[in-house]
Amino acid sequence: MKIHQNVSLADKNTLCLDARAEWYCEVFTVDALLEAAEFALNHKLKVTSLGEGSNIVLAANLAGLVIKNRIPGVTCDAEVVHAAGGENWHRLVRSTVGSGLFGLENLALIPGTVGAAPVQNIGAYGVELSDRFISLKAIHLPTLEQKTFAKAECEFAYRDSLFKKNDEWLITEVSLALSKISECVTTYPGIVAYLKEHRLDISGESIAEAVSHIRAEKLPDPSRVPNVGSFFKNPVLEAERAEAVAKAFPDLVQFDVTGGKKLSAAWLIDQMGLKGYRVGRFVVSDKHALVIINEGGGTQLELFELVRVVKQKVKHTVGIDLEIEPRIYPDGFEIP
Ligand code: EPU
Repeated sequence: MKIHQNVSLADKNTLCLDARAEWYCEVFTVDALLEAAEFALNHKLKVTSLGEGSNIVLAANLAGLVIKNRIPGVTCDAEVVHAAGGENWHRLVRSTVGSGLFGLENLALIPGTVGAAPVQNIGAYGVELSDRFISLKAIHLPTLEQKTFAKAECEFAYRDSLFKKNDEWLITEVSLALSKISECVTTYPGIVAYLKEHRLDISGESIAEAVSHIRAEKLPDPSRVPNVGSFFKNPVLEAERAEAVAKAFPDLVQFDVTGGKKLSAAWLIDQMGLKGYRVGRFVVSDKHALVIINEGGGTQLELFELVRVVKQKVKHTVGIDLEIEPRIYPDGFEIP
């Protein structure tokens, strides 16, 4: 394992923001990861872990050591799947669906690695990672302790977990409970419509196909168009406040969730007329209002200004503070 100095991360994050890592390495085994973490300990370097960089905003250069987790490996134990942190998420979905295991089909085509999936508790089309989650293995970077986290310890919530708040743990393996029996989730209307239109029976394969089709239609592909998926979370409001907002905006898309209502941030941003709004090389996607695109060479300052305008308009019109969904590095950096 080689540790490099002063490495550009521009091609290692799907928003293509240019930032540099003081030190950088890629690890393919847990032993190499421990070695890299020990190097950081000995040199008193902060460690930042990186997957495929598909849900991060590199707000500035990163001091310390960036470790890209590329540890491979998937094993199956009846209906339990153990996948290493460096595996590509969608490849895992394809292989489990292909071998007749249900459970991950609604999460098809989500960019990123298995190790990053629990950090933001990835979710789409009625399923969240936490619904299928059993446990994960992680390494505590400051002490090199290896620990298995049970579900209850991970503090999963909507696009959130312990690991989003605490970057001292690097996830090396995730274990998921799947099923040989079809228990497909078809609550998202677009899935049912796709199956009907294409005369497909409900199965892991057909749902993965429907989800992939819907995603490809709605969301720009980060491997071709630089973006990080949803840039803002859907705000969750207490029922009373949501009702007041709904009175002012009767067409507002909203869903029941525990503790209140989840409002569609995309709808709000769309209504503000911000689709296509740009600052420099950054633009609000005209395909989906929650997505911000870098048209090439966009700078952090341009992105921050675009984010400020979107947040301010929504705050001013509806009184809601939008929260940024991807993880911002360096840790603790506040977008001005
Ligand atoms: N809408 C608009 N304008 C738009 C886009 C959407 O008005 O430009 C409205 C539509 O009425 C639509 C509603 O917003 O019915 C919701 O849109 P969508 O179904 O695309 O879902 P979303 O709430 O915007 C969330 C996740 C996505 C996930 C989809 C499907 C968040 C922050 N985003 O988006 O996740 O794929 O649901 O489950 O929760 C991601 O996290 O990066 C991501 C893409």
